[in-house]
Amino acid sequence: MEQKWWQKENIYQIYLRSFYDSNNDGIGDIQGVTQKLEYFKSLGIGILWISPHYDSPMDDNGYDVRNYYKVSEDYGTLEDFRDLLHKAHELGIRIITDLVLNHTSDEHEWFIAAKDPQHPNHIKYHDYYIWQKPKFDSNGNKIKPTRWIGWFGDSTWEYNPPTDEYYLHIFSKKMPDLNWRNESLREDMKKMIRWWLDQGINGFRVDASNHLEKNWDFPDGFPGYENFSSIPRHHDYLQELGKEIFVPYDVLTIGESGGASKEEALKYAGYGSNEFNMLIHFGHCWADVDNHDPRLMGKWSQGNLRVASIKRSYQHWYEMLEGKGWNIIYWHNHDQPRVVSHYGNDSEYHDKSAKMLATSLYFMSGTAICYQGEEIGMTNVKYNQISQFRDVEVFTEYQNFLDRGFSKQEALEIIQSRCRDNARTPMQWNSEEFAGFSKHLPWIDVHSDYTSINVVSQNDDPDSVLNVYRMILKYRVENSDIMNGKVRFIELDDENHYCYENIGERKDHLILTNFREFPVSVNLSMISLEGYNLLYTNESKGMLLSKEVLLDGYSAYVYIRDKNR
Ligand code: NOJ
Repeated sequence: MEQKWWQKENIYQIYLRSFYDSNNDGIGDIQGVTQKLEYFKSLGIGILWISPHYDSPMDDNGYDVRNYYKVSEDYGTLEDFRDLLHKAHELGIRIITDLVLNHTSDEHEWFIAAKDPQHPNHIKYHDYYIWQKPKFDSNGNKIKPTRWIGWFGDSTWEYNPPTDEYYLHIFSKKMPDLNWRNESLREDMKKMIRWWLDQGINGFRVDASNHLEKNWDFPDGFPGYENFSSIPRHHDYLQELGKEIFVPYDVLTIGESGGASKEEALKYAGYGSNEFNMLIHFGHCWADVDNHDPRLMGKWSQGNLRVASIKRSYQHWYEMLEGKGWNIIYWHNHDQPRVVSHYGNDSEYHDKSAKMLATSLYFMSGTAICYQGEEIGMTNVKYNQISQFRDVEVFTEYQNFLDRGFSKQEALEIIQSRCRDNARTPMQWNSEEFAGFSKHLPWIDVHSDYTSINVVSQNDDPDSVLNVYRMILKYRVENSDIMNGKVRFIELDDENHYCYENIGERKDHLILTNFREFPVSVNLSMISLEGYNLLYTNESKGMLLSKEVLLDGYSAYVYIRDKNR
């Protein structure tokens, strides 16, 4: 089958607000990305995914869109965006943007009309959103239609007095959910999508794509996620977008969805699927949530790292899509902690574990997404006051933790280790004030470690984390065997190491990595070691392969076998 361009390139995800501030107002911007285009080239990147750049009151940093047709003044102008596209394309870099379909901002003109019975367009736009009448408790007091809890930890319902109704919001209350059953809404969305594609962008990462349909019976339940996640009918909407727009325009589409059955995985990301080309799934993102404190749910529940669960998640996706669809590999995006802090060791073994993590992931097949700052080993925040955090989710959850009996210090520590702001601190370019991100106090505090962890300090050191990322990411695009190979894990259930062969047409690669601080042994007796030669290690010297090998703390080795020799 002829390969598509997105099967031959690496993706870099840019969190616009924190990437590079070209006009020194403390906020990253589009011109800032344009000025750094050469940086991506040096990193082996061929595709940029840019987080929402649309006009927005920024309750959720742009995922709350006020006007889809306008570029946020925080980020620049449409001219800036066109200039970025033009210059990126000249360098052979393609650009995809975030496409937010599940909700708008409550300041979007549709919602302004929808919530106000006096508005001339009220009737049309009221049905663009999802409304329910209040229920009443036994004392006759108004109560919410259901006890559903949204993704930011509070109720999914907000009361709107002028209509005496509640509207649904599965994210913040400033992000009302759209009614995708409404045909006119779908037509408006399609018009907008075409408009952006006509600007020359190369595709989309489709936000919250598995939430577009809801359970319209609104049964009660707590937290009730099943009533607004992965309901089969959401595929109808994605099919419609795919058939009418994504496929005819022949652009890259990446969906976002937590989990999927095999049948669903193929619908989303199978070859010839109308919906997406790839899917961002989260099976490997929270491999350390086995602390059973009932006061902590989901990602907040901290626990021991289960390396096997990371491998099993990737294995599951490779099995579901083998020969039938294309995979994505990534460590994290702007919604999860920094990987070197989360799965590595951000103190004594910072550099070594960062290189180990790069090695373990980026020799696997599929298209890789590297998240901004990962390539220099940026770490989780060490803020010591809650007022330093910026994410809308932090504030509801912090209060939840206090309400559940945690002390302020405990609540702060839970937030610190898991919150989304970890991945959103300004990119660390150099050791000057504000990490060279801006000359103005940034919208969110720079990480205190910026004088030691930054691009300039790593640029010229061939053994820096940055240069190891450069080497591996470039190697991926120069060796199609990596992107297209078959990954076979070794001792899949082992909880300490992450080892596999990537079997290619011409070359095989053997990857041996240790996720622990202590030495770990690996049994290689099940595979043929003949012909393997060392390609890379984060140790000072190579290791002779034998049936049983011992990997030192956080060590990583890559061996290559050329089948034509
Ligand atoms: C997923 C995005 O990655 C996240 O940052 C955002 O808050 C929600 N979708 C809502 O748009």
